[in-house]
Amino acid sequence: MKIKSLTFRIFISTFFVGTLVYFICAFLFISNMYGYFENQIFNELKAESDFLENYVTSGHAEAIGKIKTENRITLIHPDGTVFFDNTVDALALENHGRRSEFIEAMSRGSAKKTRYSSTMTEKTLYFAARLSNGDVMRISCNQRSVLVLVLGMSQTLILMLIIAMIISGASASYLAKKIITPLNEIDLENPEKSDVYDELKPFTKRIAEENFEKQQREELRQQFTANVSHELKTPLTSISGFAEILKAGGTDAQTTKDFASSIFEESQRMITLVNDIIKLSKLDEKSISLEREALSLREICLEAMEVLSASALEKNVTMKISGDSGLINGVRPVIYEMAYNLIDNAIKYNKTGGSVEINIQNFMAAKDSDKNRVILTVRDSGIGIPESERERIFERFYRIDKSRSRSLGGTGLGLSIVKHAAKYHDASIILKSEEGKGSVFTVIFGM
Ligand SMILES: Nc1ncnc2c1ncn2[C@@H]1O[C@H](COP(=O)(O)OP(=O)(O)OP(=O)(O)O)[C@@H](O)[C@H]1O
Ligand SMILES: [Mg+2]
Repeated sequence: MKIKSLTFRIFISTFFVGTLVYFICAFLFISNMYGYFENQIFNELKAESDFLENYVTSGHAEAIGKIKTENRITLIHPDGTVFFDNTVDALALENHGRRSEFIEAMSRGSAKKTRYSSTMTEKTLYFAARLSNGDVMRISCNQRSVLVLVLGMSQTLILMLIIAMIISGASASYLAKKIITPLNEIDLENPEKSDVYDELKPFTKRIAEENFEKQQREELRQQFTANVSHELKTPLTSISGFAEILKAGGTDAQTTKDFASSIFEESQRMITLVNDIIKLSKLDEKSISLEREALSLREICLEAMEVLSASALEKNVTMKISGDSGLINGVRPVIYEMAYNLIDNAIKYNKTGGSVEINIQNFMAAKDSDKNRVILTVRDSGIGIPESERERIFERFYRIDKSRSRSLGGTGLGLSIVKHAAKYHDASIILKSEEGKGSVFTVIFGM
């Protein structure tokens, strides 16, 4: 389950960090204090042993039994036999020759040792010292182990955890509120003017960018509508003019025929225009997904060449195709439109007797992580495109030479369709051109 509440997230992290710090501090504190007290006890045991040494060396060891002390005092001969103990009968005790504190006291003069009881609840501290007469005096006392200490503090520990929870909960809800308030105050229209956290600047920047893009799209749409109306108005005006004259009557047979064919041409123009607009708007609606299939670019180019062969013949332009089959995964009618428009332009903006060369290349990926590429080039020996116009010609309705394009029946939507079709297939377009010599349009699939 994913936790969505900010308050809860802050609570968990505050509580976790708080508890962790608390336990670390408690551990350091307890272990330090425990070590300090242990040291203190050893000092006391040593002081007591120093004080009692006289009794033993002067041969009054049994007098120790009468001394009031909480500690256990054991006297051991150098061979390990116990000859006195103030708490139990010395004779009942086994030989202490192998006890670590005895061995160390014998060799080093004194020893400090600790041993835990089998239940780990108690710890015994031993101080042993070799006396001047060679015997060893061992003094020991019991101390509660850390485990018992901690268990004894368990109530306090639980209380602390509850307090930590309450503090974490309160600070979490306070913090969450504090963090969220400025977020809710962001002005989405002018997000960059709002005073927000530095960490949120990329977010507000993105909104600002999106707002800007939205505004630009809106402007483009308005411009498009204006362009469409204008483009439709021109042929409609002439159709209406011709029809008006015909309606008045009195035109001779030839003029009537001429006017009728003008009306026909103009209405054909309008049909082409409307068709182009429909194609573009289909490509624009990215939400509708057109069906993709395995296509051969070569086949599609051949189809378009076939359709365009009449206009090529009319201009005495020769068309050639070379290269590979160019297998891509694409939407057939869209790819066809792209090829058609590129070849159409290559013929239309060519010189009489010029040529159009179409080439398709397959490039196999060198690595698995790379994509296979298919590159389509349409090269013409036509009029070329000035540097300054190379970007703009892909805009809707943009024509370099309006009157020339119009006379050729152009609407200026062709390259815009090409651009959208390429974008739809994640392909990129590169344009190279030399004025008076010709142009090369390169479309790279699979990038
Ligand atoms: N191969 C080319 N050589 C020279 N100029 C070109 C070439 N292709 C396009 N252009 C220029 O770019 C302009 C825009 O081309 P586009 O294909 O978008 O429109 P069009 O050909 O005028 O009309 P449509 O394609 O809608 O019939 C053209 O008017 C022409 O000036
Ligand atoms: Mg065109």
